[in-house]
Amino acid sequence: MLKSRPKILIADQDTVFRGILVKMLEKAGYELQTVYQGIDLIREIQMAGFDLLLLDSGLQESGGMNLVDQIRGIRPDLPLVMISRNGSIQSAVNALKRGAADYIEKSAKEDRFLESIRDIFDKRIRQGGNHHPNYSGGMQDRMIGKSEAIAQIERLVAKASGTNIKVLIEGENGTGKELVARAIHRGSRRADRPFVAVNCAAIPENLVESELFGHKRGAFTGALSDKPGKFQIAHSGTLFLDEIGDMSLMTQAKVLRVIEEGVVENVGGRQPVPVDVRLIAATNQNLQKAMFEQRFREDLYFRLNVLNIQIPPLRERLEDIPDIAGHFVAFFCRENHSPHKRLSEEAVAELACYDWPGNVRELRNVIEKALVLVDAEEIQAEHIRMVMQGRQAGRPLANMTLKQARVRFEREFIRDKLAAANSNISRAAEMLGIPRTYLYKKIKVLDIPI
Ligand SMILES: Nc1ncnc2c1ncn2[C@@H]1O[C@H](COP(=O)(O)OP(=O)(O)OP(=O)(O)O)[C@@H](O)[C@H]1O
Ligand SMILES: [Mg+2]
Repeated sequence: MLKSRPKILIADQDTVFRGILVKMLEKAGYELQTVYQGIDLIREIQMAGFDLLLLDSGLQESGGMNLVDQIRGIRPDLPLVMISRNGSIQSAVNALKRGAADYIEKSAKEDRFLESIRDIFDKRIRQGGNHHPNYSGGMQDRMIGKSEAIAQIERLVAKASGTNIKVLIEGENGTGKELVARAIHRGSRRADRPFVAVNCAAIPENLVESELFGHKRGAFTGALSDKPGKFQIAHSGTLFLDEIGDMSLMTQAKVLRVIEEGVVENVGGRQPVPVDVRLIAATNQNLQKAMFEQRFREDLYFRLNVLNIQIPPLRERLEDIPDIAGHFVAFFCRENHSPHKRLSEEAVAELACYDWPGNVRELRNVIEKALVLVDAEEIQAEHIRMVMQGRQAGRPLANMTLKQARVRFEREFIRDKLAAANSNISRAAEMLGIPRTYLYKKIKVLDIPI
Protein backbone atom coordinates (compact mmCIF):
# COMPACT_ATOMS: atom_id res chain seq x y z
CA MET A 1 0.00 0.00 0.00
CA LEU A 2 1.28 3.43 -0.87
CA LYS A 3 2.01 5.47 2.19
CA SER A 4 1.89 9.24 2.28
CA ARG A 5 5.14 10.45 3.78
CA PRO A 6 5.53 13.74 5.61
CA LYS A 7 7.11 16.38 3.37
CA ILE A 8 9.99 18.44 4.67
CA LEU A 9 11.41 21.55 3.05
CA ILE A 10 15.06 22.32 3.74
CA ALA A 11 16.16 25.91 3.21
CA ASP A 12 19.90 26.29 3.51
CA GLN A 13 22.62 27.91 1.41
CA ASP A 14 25.21 25.42 2.52
CA THR A 15 25.27 22.72 -0.16
CA VAL A 16 27.25 20.27 1.93
CA PHE A 17 25.00 20.51 4.94
CA ARG A 18 21.90 20.35 2.77
CA GLY A 19 23.25 17.11 1.36
CA ILE A 20 23.84 15.70 4.84
CA LEU A 21 20.30 16.55 5.93
CA VAL A 22 18.76 15.12 2.78
CA LYS A 23 20.57 11.85 3.22
CA MET A 24 19.70 11.55 6.89
CA LEU A 25 16.04 12.44 6.47
CA GLU A 26 15.50 10.36 3.37
CA LYS A 27 16.79 7.40 5.26
CA ALA A 28 14.28 8.17 8.01
CA GLY A 29 11.48 7.97 5.45
CA TYR A 30 10.63 11.62 4.83
CA GLU A 31 9.98 13.23 1.50
CA LEU A 32 12.31 16.15 0.87
CA GLN A 33 12.67 19.28 -1.12
CA THR A 34 15.52 21.78 -0.88
CA VAL A 35 15.94 25.46 -1.66
CA TYR A 36 18.91 27.71 -1.10
CA GLN A 37 17.55 31.22 -1.24
CA GLY A 38 14.76 33.14 0.45
CA ILE A 39 12.84 33.94 -2.68
CA ASP A 40 12.57 30.28 -3.70
CA LEU A 41 11.61 29.40 -0.18
CA ILE A 42 8.62 31.73 -0.20
CA ARG A 43 7.51 30.44 -3.58
CA GLU A 44 7.76 26.81 -2.49
CA ILE A 45 5.80 27.49 0.65
CA GLN A 46 3.09 29.24 -1.32
CA MET A 47 2.88 26.43 -3.81
CA ALA A 48 3.38 23.17 -2.02
CA GLY A 49 1.92 21.59 1.07
CA PHE A 50 4.94 21.02 3.26
CA ASP A 51 4.59 19.57 6.71
CA LEU A 52 7.75 21.02 8.20
CA LEU A 53 10.43 23.55 7.36
CA LEU A 54 14.10 23.32 8.33
CA LEU A 55 15.37 26.86 8.01
CA ASP A 56 18.97 27.96 8.23
CA SER A 57 19.14 31.13 10.30
CA GLY A 58 21.81 32.46 7.91
CA LEU A 59 19.32 32.47 5.08
CA GLN A 60 17.17 34.86 6.98
CA GLU A 61 19.95 37.40 7.35
CA SER A 62 21.02 37.32 3.72
CA GLY A 63 17.46 37.94 2.55
CA GLY A 64 17.50 41.30 4.29
CA MET A 65 13.91 40.90 5.42
CA ASN A 66 12.38 38.77 8.02
CA LEU A 67 11.71 35.44 6.43
CA VAL A 68 10.11 33.91 9.46
CA ASP A 69 7.39 36.57 9.58
CA GLN A 70 6.79 36.17 5.86
CA ILE A 71 6.48 32.41 6.21
CA ARG A 72 4.16 32.82 9.14
CA GLY A 73 1.95 35.10 7.04
CA ILE A 74 1.54 32.39 4.43
CA ARG A 75 1.47 29.27 6.56
CA PRO A 76 1.06 30.14 10.25
CA ASP A 77 0.65 26.47 11.05
CA LEU A 78 3.83 25.26 9.36
CA PRO A 79 6.20 23.87 12.02
CA LEU A 80 9.60 25.46 11.64
CA VAL A 81 12.90 24.23 12.96
CA MET A 82 15.66 26.81 12.94
CA ILE A 83 19.15 25.48 12.25
CA SER A 84 22.28 27.45 12.76
CA ARG A 85 26.01 27.05 12.30
CA ASN A 86 27.10 28.73 15.47
CA GLY A 87 24.11 29.74 17.43
CA SER A 88 24.00 31.58 20.69
CA ILE A 89 21.47 31.10 23.44
CA GLN A 90 20.05 34.45 22.44
CA SER A 91 19.46 33.42 18.84
CA ALA A 92 17.82 30.21 20.06
CA VAL A 93 15.53 32.19 22.33
CA ASN A 94 14.72 34.61 19.50
CA ALA A 95 13.89 31.79 17.13
CA LEU A 96 11.63 30.12 19.65
CA LYS A 97 9.97 33.43 20.45
CA ARG A 98 9.19 33.95 16.78
CA GLY A 99 7.39 30.66 16.83
CA ALA A 100 10.05 28.16 15.77
CA ALA A 101 9.22 24.75 17.14
CA ASP A 102 12.86 24.01 17.81
CA TYR A 103 16.38 25.34 17.37
CA ILE A 104 19.23 23.03 16.48
CA GLU A 105 22.89 23.71 15.92
CA LYS A 106 24.34 22.19 12.80
CA SER A 107 26.99 20.47 14.85
CA ALA A 108 24.32 18.50 16.74
CA LYS A 109 24.15 14.73 16.43
CA GLU A 110 21.89 13.09 13.88
CA ASP A 111 19.58 11.87 16.64
CA ARG A 112 18.88 15.40 17.77
CA PHE A 113 17.45 16.27 14.35
CA LEU A 114 15.48 13.07 13.99
CA GLU A 115 14.00 13.24 17.46
CA SER A 116 13.02 16.86 17.11
CA ILE A 117 11.29 16.24 13.79
CA ARG A 118 9.55 13.15 15.07
CA ASP A 119 8.31 14.98 18.15
CA ILE A 120 6.99 17.83 16.06
CA PHE A 121 5.10 15.49 13.79
CA ASP A 122 3.74 13.69 16.79
CA LYS A 123 2.51 16.83 18.36
CA ARG A 124 1.58 19.01 15.48
CA ILE A 125 1.14 17.38 12.13
CA ARG A 126 -2.41 16.49 12.95
CA GLN A 127 -3.42 20.06 13.67
CA GLY A 128 -6.16 21.53 11.57
CA GLY A 129 -6.93 20.00 8.23
CA ASN A 130 -3.22 19.60 7.71
CA HIS A 131 -2.82 16.03 8.71
CA HIS A 132 -1.54 12.94 7.05
CA PRO A 133 -4.17 10.30 7.28
CA ASN A 134 -1.59 7.59 6.91
CA TYR A 135 1.08 9.00 9.11
CA SER A 136 0.33 7.97 12.63
CA GLY A 137 3.65 8.94 14.21
CA GLY A 138 3.07 6.08 16.59
CA MET A 139 -0.27 7.47 17.64
CA GLN A 140 -2.47 4.66 18.82
CA ASP A 141 -6.20 4.85 18.70
CA ARG A 142 -6.80 3.19 22.03
CA MET A 143 -5.55 3.69 25.57
CA ILE A 144 -3.56 0.63 26.47
CA GLY A 145 -3.00 -0.46 30.05
CA LYS A 146 -4.39 -2.56 32.85
CA SER A 147 -4.20 -0.01 35.62
CA GLU A 148 -7.27 1.21 37.45
CA ALA A 149 -6.37 4.71 36.22
CA ILE A 150 -6.76 3.66 32.58
CA ALA A 151 -10.02 1.84 33.34
CA GLN A 152 -11.38 4.95 35.03
CA ILE A 153 -10.27 7.15 32.11
CA GLU A 154 -12.01 4.80 29.69
CA ARG A 155 -15.21 5.09 31.70
CA LEU A 156 -15.00 8.88 31.60
CA VAL A 157 -14.24 8.85 27.86
CA ALA A 158 -17.35 6.76 27.26
CA LYS A 159 -19.46 9.15 29.37
CA ALA A 160 -18.04 12.23 27.63
CA SER A 161 -18.57 10.73 24.18
CA GLY A 162 -22.29 10.42 24.68
CA THR A 163 -22.73 14.15 25.28
CA ASN A 164 -21.37 17.50 24.17
CA ILE A 165 -19.94 18.19 27.59
CA LYS A 166 -16.75 20.24 27.67
CA VAL A 167 -13.78 18.28 28.91
CA LEU A 168 -10.52 19.39 30.47
CA ILE A 169 -7.74 16.81 30.30
CA GLU A 170 -4.83 17.24 32.67
CA GLY A 171 -1.57 15.32 32.64
CA GLU A 172 2.18 15.60 32.23
CA ASN A 173 3.85 15.61 28.83
CA GLY A 174 3.36 12.44 26.84
CA THR A 175 0.74 10.91 29.12
CA GLY A 176 -1.81 10.56 26.32
CA LYS A 177 -3.92 13.71 26.55
CA GLU A 178 -4.39 13.96 22.81
CA LEU A 179 -5.13 10.27 22.61
CA VAL A 180 -7.95 10.75 25.12
CA ALA A 181 -9.28 13.80 23.27
CA ARG A 182 -9.37 11.86 20.00
CA ALA A 183 -11.05 8.91 21.68
CA ILE A 184 -13.82 11.17 22.96
CA HIS A 185 -14.30 12.64 19.50
CA ARG A 186 -14.28 9.25 17.81
CA GLY A 187 -16.87 7.88 20.21
CA SER A 188 -19.13 10.89 19.79
CA ARG A 189 -21.86 11.72 17.31
CA ARG A 190 -19.39 14.14 15.74
CA ALA A 191 -17.00 11.32 14.82
CA ASP A 192 -17.31 11.84 11.08
CA ARG A 193 -16.87 15.60 11.44
CA PRO A 194 -13.48 17.29 11.81
CA PHE A 195 -11.25 16.92 14.84
CA VAL A 196 -9.05 19.99 14.93
CA ALA A 197 -6.14 20.26 17.33
CA VAL A 198 -4.60 23.62 18.16
CA ASN A 199 -1.44 23.78 20.17
CA CYS A 200 -1.81 27.08 21.97
CA ALA A 201 1.85 27.04 23.03
CA ALA A 202 3.11 26.70 19.47
CA ILE A 203 1.45 29.70 17.89
CA PRO A 204 3.25 33.03 18.23
CA GLU A 205 1.18 35.56 20.15
CA ASN A 206 0.71 37.92 17.22
CA LEU A 207 -0.81 35.15 15.12
CA VAL A 208 -3.03 33.47 17.67
CA GLU A 209 -6.06 35.52 16.84
CA SER A 210 -5.86 34.86 13.14
CA GLU A 211 -5.16 31.17 13.77
CA LEU A 212 -8.14 30.68 16.03
CA PHE A 213 -10.62 33.08 14.54
CA GLY A 214 -9.39 33.42 10.94
CA HIS A 215 -8.73 36.56 8.94
CA LYS A 216 -9.92 38.42 5.92
CA ARG A 217 -7.65 39.13 2.98
CA GLY A 218 -5.61 42.27 3.58
CA ALA A 219 -6.36 42.36 7.31
CA PHE A 220 -2.62 42.61 7.94
CA THR A 221 0.65 42.35 6.01
CA GLY A 222 0.94 38.83 4.72
CA ALA A 223 -2.81 38.13 4.83
CA LEU A 224 -2.87 37.29 1.13
CA SER A 225 -6.25 35.64 1.15
CA ASP A 226 -9.20 34.94 3.41
CA LYS A 227 -8.35 32.26 5.90
CA PRO A 228 -10.81 30.49 8.18
CA GLY A 229 -9.78 30.06 11.81
CA LYS A 230 -9.59 26.77 13.68
CA PHE A 231 -13.00 27.39 15.25
CA GLN A 232 -14.53 27.54 11.77
CA ILE A 233 -12.56 24.57 10.48
CA ALA A 234 -13.81 22.56 13.46
CA HIS A 235 -17.42 23.60 12.83
CA SER A 236 -19.79 20.73 13.62
CA GLY A 237 -16.82 18.74 14.95
CA THR A 238 -14.43 18.94 17.90
CA LEU A 239 -11.85 21.60 18.65
CA PHE A 240 -9.00 20.40 20.83
CA LEU A 241 -7.32 23.32 22.57
CA ASP A 242 -4.00 21.83 23.59
CA GLU A 243 -1.62 23.45 26.12
CA ILE A 244 -4.38 25.80 27.16
CA GLY A 245 -2.28 27.01 30.09
CA ASP A 246 0.00 28.78 27.63
CA MET A 247 -2.73 30.94 26.20
CA SER A 248 -2.34 34.65 26.90
CA LEU A 249 -4.96 36.42 28.98
CA MET A 250 -6.01 38.43 25.95
CA THR A 251 -6.68 35.31 23.88
CA GLN A 252 -8.40 33.68 26.83
CA ALA A 253 -10.86 36.56 26.92
CA LYS A 254 -11.58 36.13 23.23
CA VAL A 255 -12.05 32.38 23.48
CA LEU A 256 -14.42 32.91 26.38
CA ARG A 257 -16.48 35.23 24.20
CA VAL A 258 -16.72 32.65 21.43
CA ILE A 259 -17.88 30.07 23.96
CA GLU A 260 -20.47 32.40 25.40
CA GLU A 261 -21.79 33.79 22.15
CA GLY A 262 -21.25 30.90 19.76
CA VAL A 263 -19.85 33.17 17.06
CA VAL A 264 -16.35 34.07 15.87
CA GLU A 265 -15.19 37.26 14.28
CA ASN A 266 -12.51 36.99 11.62
CA VAL A 267 -9.64 39.44 11.99
CA GLY A 268 -10.53 42.29 9.63
CA GLY A 269 -14.02 40.90 9.12
CA ARG A 270 -17.32 42.54 9.92
CA GLN A 271 -19.80 39.72 10.11
CA PRO A 272 -19.71 37.39 13.11
CA VAL A 273 -19.73 33.78 11.94
CA PRO A 274 -21.76 31.26 13.95
CA VAL A 275 -19.82 28.15 14.96
CA ASP A 276 -20.86 24.91 16.59
CA VAL A 277 -17.86 23.17 18.12
CA ARG A 278 -17.37 20.70 20.89
CA LEU A 279 -14.48 21.91 23.02
CA ILE A 280 -11.89 19.70 24.64
CA ALA A 281 -8.98 21.41 26.37
CA ALA A 282 -5.74 19.98 27.69
CA THR A 283 -2.90 21.19 29.82
CA ASN A 284 0.24 19.95 31.47
CA GLN A 285 0.23 22.92 33.80
CA ASN A 286 -1.41 23.30 37.13
CA LEU A 287 -4.25 25.62 36.23
CA GLN A 288 -5.18 26.18 39.87
CA LYS A 289 -1.76 27.68 40.37
CA ALA A 290 -2.03 29.63 37.11
CA MET A 291 -5.33 31.09 38.33
CA PHE A 292 -3.80 31.95 41.67
CA GLU A 293 -1.00 33.74 39.83
CA GLN A 294 -3.60 35.43 37.65
CA ARG A 295 -2.24 33.89 34.48
CA PHE A 296 -5.44 32.00 33.80
CA ARG A 297 -8.98 33.33 33.92
CA GLU A 298 -11.18 31.67 36.45
CA ASP A 299 -14.33 32.09 34.36
CA LEU A 300 -12.71 30.34 31.39
CA TYR A 301 -11.45 27.57 33.66
CA PHE A 302 -14.95 26.85 34.91
CA ARG A 303 -16.33 26.98 31.38
CA LEU A 304 -13.81 24.43 30.12
CA ASN A 305 -13.54 22.21 33.15
CA VAL A 306 -17.02 20.71 33.14
CA LEU A 307 -15.76 17.14 33.04
CA ASN A 308 -12.23 16.71 34.31
CA ILE A 309 -9.98 13.84 33.22
CA GLN A 310 -6.65 13.46 34.99
CA ILE A 311 -4.07 11.18 33.41
CA PRO A 312 -1.54 10.09 36.00
CA PRO A 313 2.14 9.97 35.03
CA LEU A 314 3.43 6.60 33.83
CA ARG A 315 5.60 6.17 36.95
CA GLU A 316 2.41 6.03 39.01
CA ARG A 317 0.96 3.21 36.94
CA LEU A 318 3.89 0.97 36.24
CA GLU A 319 1.55 -1.95 35.68
CA ASP A 320 0.70 -0.37 32.30
CA ILE A 321 4.31 -0.60 31.09
CA PRO A 322 4.37 -4.25 29.93
CA ASP A 323 1.33 -3.89 27.68
CA ILE A 324 2.24 -0.48 26.31
CA ALA A 325 5.85 -1.51 25.67
CA GLY A 326 4.74 -4.75 24.00
CA HIS A 327 2.32 -2.80 21.91
CA PHE A 328 5.04 -0.45 20.66
CA VAL A 329 7.35 -3.35 19.86
CA ALA A 330 4.67 -4.85 17.63
CA PHE A 331 3.79 -1.45 16.21
CA PHE A 332 7.32 -0.57 15.13
CA CYS A 333 8.00 -4.04 13.73
CA ARG A 334 4.92 -3.59 11.57
CA GLU A 335 5.89 -0.06 10.59
CA ASN A 336 9.39 -1.08 9.61
CA HIS A 337 8.31 -4.32 7.97
CA SER A 338 10.75 -6.14 10.20
CA PRO A 339 10.24 -9.61 11.67
CA HIS A 340 8.28 -9.83 14.87
CA LYS A 341 10.26 -9.22 18.07
CA ARG A 342 9.47 -9.33 21.76
CA LEU A 343 10.77 -8.10 25.10
CA SER A 344 12.39 -10.50 27.53
CA GLU A 345 10.94 -10.62 31.02
CA GLU A 346 14.05 -8.92 32.37
CA ALA A 347 13.76 -6.20 29.75
CA VAL A 348 10.21 -5.49 30.90
CA ALA A 349 11.38 -5.44 34.53
CA GLU A 350 14.16 -3.04 33.54
CA LEU A 351 11.65 -0.67 31.91
CA ALA A 352 9.83 -0.43 35.22
CA CYS A 353 12.98 0.87 36.91
CA TYR A 354 12.83 4.31 35.37
CA ASP A 355 10.88 7.39 36.24
CA TRP A 356 9.74 8.24 32.69
CA PRO A 357 9.58 12.01 32.91
CA GLY A 358 8.46 11.98 29.27
CA ASN A 359 5.85 9.31 30.05
CA VAL A 360 4.41 7.14 27.27
CA ARG A 361 6.01 9.16 24.50
CA GLU A 362 9.43 8.58 26.05
CA LEU A 363 8.71 4.88 26.46
CA ARG A 364 7.78 4.68 22.81
CA ASN A 365 11.04 6.38 21.76
CA VAL A 366 13.05 3.99 23.92
CA ILE A 367 11.37 0.95 22.38
CA GLU A 368 11.94 2.28 18.90
CA LYS A 369 15.63 2.79 19.61
CA ALA A 370 16.04 -0.56 21.33
CA LEU A 371 14.60 -2.27 18.26
CA VAL A 372 17.33 -0.72 16.16
CA LEU A 373 19.97 -2.29 18.39
CA VAL A 374 18.53 -5.78 18.28
CA ASP A 375 18.84 -8.30 15.51
CA ALA A 376 17.68 -11.23 17.58
CA GLU A 377 14.06 -11.95 18.23
CA GLU A 378 14.18 -10.91 21.86
CA ILE A 379 15.05 -7.51 23.28
CA GLN A 380 17.11 -7.94 26.44
CA ALA A 381 17.44 -5.76 29.53
CA GLU A 382 20.90 -4.90 28.31
CA HIS A 383 19.47 -3.20 25.21
CA ILE A 384 17.11 -1.17 27.32
CA ARG A 385 19.98 -0.09 29.55
CA MET A 386 22.02 0.86 26.52
CA VAL A 387 19.25 3.10 25.23
CA MET A 388 18.55 4.53 28.67
CA GLN A 389 22.19 5.37 29.21
CA GLY A 390 22.65 8.53 31.15
CA ARG A 391 19.09 8.55 32.32
CA GLN A 392 18.32 8.02 35.94
CA ALA A 393 17.30 4.51 36.86
CA GLY A 394 16.93 5.44 40.46
CA ARG A 395 13.33 4.57 41.07
CA PRO A 396 13.01 3.79 44.73
CA LEU A 397 12.68 0.11 45.57
CA ALA A 398 9.51 0.94 47.43
CA ASN A 399 7.71 1.49 44.13
CA MET A 400 8.77 -1.81 42.59
CA THR A 401 7.09 -5.17 42.52
CA LEU A 402 8.85 -7.93 44.43
CA LYS A 403 10.12 -9.41 41.19
CA GLN A 404 11.52 -6.11 39.92
CA ALA A 405 13.19 -5.46 43.25
CA ARG A 406 14.67 -8.97 43.28
CA VAL A 407 16.07 -8.61 39.77
CA ARG A 408 17.57 -5.26 40.66
CA PHE A 409 19.05 -6.58 43.88
CA GLU A 410 20.46 -9.77 42.36
CA ARG A 411 22.05 -7.92 39.50
CA GLU A 412 23.77 -5.42 41.76
CA PHE A 413 24.82 -8.00 44.30
CA ILE A 414 26.32 -10.35 41.73
CA ARG A 415 28.00 -7.49 39.88
CA ASP A 416 29.68 -6.34 43.11
CA LYS A 417 30.89 -9.83 43.93
CA LEU A 418 32.24 -10.28 40.41
CA ALA A 419 34.11 -7.01 40.74
CA ALA A 420 35.52 -8.11 44.10
CA ALA A 421 36.66 -11.37 42.52
CA ASN A 422 38.28 -9.55 39.60
CA SER A 423 35.76 -11.17 37.25
CA ASN A 424 37.00 -14.62 38.26
CA ILE A 425 33.81 -16.65 37.96
CA SER A 426 34.90 -19.54 40.19
CA ARG A 427 35.93 -17.16 42.95
CA ALA A 428 32.77 -15.10 42.67
CA ALA A 429 30.64 -18.28 42.71
CA GLU A 430 32.41 -19.36 45.85
CA MET A 431 31.82 -15.99 47.51
CA LEU A 432 28.16 -16.15 46.53
CA GLY A 433 27.86 -19.73 47.70
CA ILE A 434 26.41 -20.98 44.43
CA PRO A 435 27.66 -23.40 41.74
CA ARG A 436 29.70 -21.91 38.91
CA THR A 437 27.19 -23.05 36.28
CA TYR A 438 24.39 -21.34 38.15
CA LEU A 439 26.37 -18.12 38.28
CA TYR A 440 26.91 -18.33 34.52
CA LYS A 441 23.20 -18.69 34.06
CA LYS A 442 22.48 -15.70 36.30
CA ILE A 443 25.01 -13.57 34.47
CA LYS A 444 23.29 -14.38 31.21
CA VAL A 445 19.73 -13.94 32.40
CA LEU A 446 20.42 -10.73 34.29
CA ASP A 447 22.69 -9.31 31.58
CA ILE A 448 25.51 -8.64 33.95
CA PRO A 449 28.57 -7.24 32.23
CA ILE A 450 31.81 -9.05 33.07
N1 LIG B 1 -2.22 4.41 27.28
C1 LIG B 1 -1.63 4.48 26.09
N2 LIG B 1 -1.63 3.42 25.26
C2 LIG B 1 -1.04 3.49 24.06
N3 LIG B 1 -0.40 4.56 23.59
C3 LIG B 1 -0.36 5.65 24.37
C4 LIG B 1 -0.98 5.67 25.64
N4 LIG B 1 -0.78 6.90 26.19
C5 LIG B 1 -0.07 7.59 25.29
N5 LIG B 1 0.18 6.86 24.18
C6 LIG B 1 0.98 7.27 23.03
O1 LIG B 1 2.01 8.11 23.51
C7 LIG B 1 2.25 9.19 22.65
C8 LIG B 1 1.98 10.49 23.37
O2 LIG B 1 0.59 10.65 23.60
P1 LIG B 1 -0.14 12.05 23.42
O3 LIG B 1 0.43 12.82 22.30
O4 LIG B 1 -1.61 11.81 23.44
O5 LIG B 1 0.32 12.71 24.81
P2 LIG B 1 0.11 14.18 25.35
O6 LIG B 1 -0.28 14.07 26.75
O7 LIG B 1 -0.80 14.94 24.42
O8 LIG B 1 1.59 14.73 25.26
P3 LIG B 1 2.13 16.26 25.21
O9 LIG B 1 1.76 16.90 26.51
O10 LIG B 1 3.58 16.07 25.08
O11 LIG B 1 1.45 16.88 24.05
C9 LIG B 1 1.35 8.96 21.46
O12 LIG B 1 2.08 8.25 20.49
C10 LIG B 1 0.22 8.12 22.02
O13 LIG B 1 -0.38 7.35 21.04
MG1 LIG C 1 -0.37 16.68 23.35
